Amino acid sequence: MVAHRRHHFLLETFCFCAIIVALFPEKAYAIAGKCSACKAVSAELQEALNKENKQRNHIDMRGRLDSKGQRYGKLIPYSVSEQRYLELVEDFCETSRVPDYQLSKADLSRNETEDSWYKAPKGTVRGAQAKTEQREIQTYCERVMEEVEEELQTLLYEEKLNETNVEQYVCYELSPQCVSKAEWKKKKKDRKEGMDRHTGKYDTATMKEL
Ligand SMILES: *[C@@H]1O[C@H](CO)[C@@H](O)[C@H](O)[C@H]1NC(C)=O
Ligand SMILES: *[C@@H]1O[C@H](CO)[C@@H](O)[C@H](O)[C@H]1NC(C)=O
Repeated sequence: MVAHRRHHFLLETFCFCAIIVALFPEKAYAIAGKCSACKAVSAELQEALNKENKQRNHIDMRGRLDSKGQRYGKLIPYSVSEQRYLELVEDFCETSRVPDYQLSKADLSRNETEDSWYKAPKGTVRGAQAKTEQREIQTYCERVMEEVEEELQTLLYEEKLNETNVEQYVCYELSPQCVSKAEWKKKKKDRKEGMDRHTGKYDTATMKEL
């Protein structure tokens, strides 16, 4: 009986591990030239942000009428609306030019130590290897976007994103794509402690009080 239960336990443990491995395939996490892949994703996101139509109307959330027939609710500036965020990130990895990036092997003669991603001219990505790389960077893009999503949205609402800083946020601050994980963790902790010590609002990049 004991032996039987033990067997059962081992089997359960095995199944559990198998599920974990199936849910989090290591491959999706690893990409050659990770930092440069992140920079590629950020560059496209930056471009989408910079190309936005800045003259959008406020979002009218005053959907209801009070007893005097007056509309009530909020009028939300488009710049800090959820709609703006969604328009920016929805299907971004698929419909932006992220899938046009291709992997270039490190050129040892130029002292390059890492493979890196470069943007191929539109419509030139052909062939099996190229398609594989296309899928790779798109999958990577989806993973990074998912990872930074919440904080990125907050930055947008706080109007912290500008014409140049998407890469700094995405690859260095929100996710350790271009810095070592240990360094990133430490900085993140410092930032958090800075926030805890004071009560005011902070520029998360400089930690200067606003
Ligand atoms: C590559 O590095 C070596 C040794 O550090 C140096 O002598 C050489 O000039 C470098 N080559 C280039 C193209 O930068
Ligand atoms: C964008 O924001 C960064 C901080 O995140 C700042 O250092 C930089 O000067 C800003 N650039 C512009 C063009 O406002």
